Amino acid sequence: MNITINLVDKEKRPAPTEENLGFGRIFTPHMFVMTWETEKGWHDARIQPFAPFEISPASSVLHYAQEIFEGMKAYRQAKDRIVMFRPEMNAARMNRSAARMDMPEIPVDDQLEILTRLIDIDRDYVPRTRGNTLYIRPAMMGDSHSLGAHSASRFIYFVILSPSGSYYPRGLAPTRLKVERRYVRAVKGGVGFAKTGGNYAASFKGTTEAIAEGFDQVVWLDGKENRYVQEAGAMNIMFVADGKLYTGALGDGILPGITRDSVLMLAKEMGLETIERPIDIQEVKRWADEGRLTEAFGTGTAAAISPIGELNFAGEPIIPGDGEIGPIARHMYETLLGIQYGELEDRYGWIYPVPDKTI
Ligand code: PLP
Ligand code: COI
Repeated sequence: MNITINLVDKEKRPAPTEENLGFGRIFTPHMFVMTWETEKGWHDARIQPFAPFEISPASSVLHYAQEIFEGMKAYRQAKDRIVMFRPEMNAARMNRSAARMDMPEIPVDDQLEILTRLIDIDRDYVPRTRGNTLYIRPAMMGDSHSLGAHSASRFIYFVILSPSGSYYPRGLAPTRLKVERRYVRAVKGGVGFAKTGGNYAASFKGTTEAIAEGFDQVVWLDGKENRYVQEAGAMNIMFVADGKLYTGALGDGILPGITRDSVLMLAKEMGLETIERPIDIQEVKRWADEGRLTEAFGTGTAAAISPIGELNFAGEPIIPGDGEIGPIARHMYETLLGIQYGELEDRYGWIYPVPDKTI
């Protein structure tokens, strides 16, 4: 790819910091930007100083939410080797989201080149303390300057990088999730499987209400029968019952999580039976009532593995196991982190190194 590079002077770059990072609050000095137009396709690819966009108030993303994004992480292994985790999966998902939202795709190899070159330039900002990572946020937005309600004729793709700590401030402490009965996140034929901004916007009201009631996040049920567990606000959900690992089957309503896929592979490797099918919340309640539900946890890039201490359904708590992190969640957490930090063998080729000095 032909990428123009315009760097911030070395002495003007802020010093990397690792304390109180929070999630997605601070950004590295550089960003990647490129533009798509009907006649030209993708062009004007550049790495430039992190800066606000100047976009028209008529820009289509501001009115019709034609937007998609991804979320992944870069890790600093021993000897300052910087790596990503299965970024080709994110690039492929970005293209599936683009296809659903009528937006232009970007070849997976180009996305990988963009990511490695940008991360290489800002490699000093990949945190050094275990558990802190460089969160990578690629996004694409419609930027036609006309109010017609149709797909844009101009798009901007950009990537920003954020040195980040845990998504949940309490780290591995079990979360309390509210099973949402009033609002829905996704419907058949809709965009639930796409990583598009509107899915998140539509989820905020329920999430705000749940947080006000003392919960950490919402669990979404299917939009038709309001029974089947889909996923949580920023993670897929798994249950361990009768020694088997259950998670909702992919379809229109569930984001095909890369952590989900990785955990299913690790589960099979450890001889755990995995079952992907619609999971009725009443069934989960029954499992818990009968003492068969030993664990529940969320999986996601930002959230990693997040043990669930309580699922609150219609005011009644469903408590998996003893409400603490269970052995399978712990194993998944440690195995994934071990692979990501290069302490465990990368048996599946999940690790994607960011070569030093690609420019
Ligand atoms: N579900 C939703 C709604 C998400 O936002 C995320 C986070 O990306 C996930 C699931 C987990 O996906 P992944 O494991 O690819 O990060
Ligand atoms: C991620 O896990 O990468 C996400 O995108 C979650 C996010 C919406 C904060």
